[in-house]
Amino acid sequence: MTAQLLTTLSANLNLVKLPQHVAVIMDGNGRWAKQKGLPRIEGHRRGASTLKEMLRYCKDLGIKTLTAYAFSTENWGRPIGEVNFLMTLFERLLQKELKEMEAEEVCINFIGDLSPLPRSLQQEMRHSMERTKNNQGVFFNVAINYGSRHEMVTACRNIAQKVQQGRISASDIDENTIAQHLYTSASPDPDLLIRTSGEMRLSNFLLWQLAYTEIYVTDTLWPDFDSEQFDRALEAYQQRDRRFGKKVS
Ligand code: FPP
Repeated sequence: MTAQLLTTLSANLNLVKLPQHVAVIMDGNGRWAKQKGLPRIEGHRRGASTLKEMLRYCKDLGIKTLTAYAFSTENWGRPIGEVNFLMTLFERLLQKELKEMEAEEVCINFIGDLSPLPRSLQQEMRHSMERTKNNQGVFFNVAINYGSRHEMVTACRNIAQKVQQGRISASDIDENTIAQHLYTSASPDPDLLIRTSGEMRLSNFLLWQLAYTEIYVTDTLWPDFDSEQFDRALEAYQQRDRRFGKKVS
């Protein structure tokens, strides 16, 4: 654990009861920028460094998986200039951060339909996944052009095709079969979902995977979500009684 982490860590945090997988809906970049009289893209730039800090904090704490919602299938409806800025930002970040991700043992994985993304971005994504695939320090899933309903439709089509080909029978399909055909097949379901900026929605994010996830919503805008705020979310998580639908006598 780093010295800096030890000095900032909340005394109320129980290090043996941490979530293994945290998912995050990073909302409020635009509002953060507007409040400061800055263009929206500055909010995204700042949001990207918040995400980097969060990933480092997860790794230091021993939280094994972080999944971040960076661009939804609905986000194509934003002004073209903002969409183009985000695509360029993703590409530059990957180029700039790859060395550090390798050194920090980050295993990066992109979830979503990557096919409509700019070719050069797709190349950068494939390259970073290939270069970090054996890392075990922290698993970092980035959802880009991700939509949960689309993910489930794709999974159904792939399963149906296997049935058609006689590789599996319809009666063998169970929850595990579905989970194995989602983009997240390599990760356990999230224990904790954090959404910033106060919206009480899932916004088509991990609808299957969040079935028993604890949800924490904060009014803090994403660029202001620092390690202290994260500690608060983790403390709230630790106070929850997770029963997974079972009644405790
Ligand atoms: C939501 O805020 C944020 C986004 C749609 C973009 C998030 C992207 C990043 C933080 C960059 C991440 C970088 C990598 C490499 C994954 P908003 O624009 O919806 O804010 P608003 O609701 O206040 O308008």
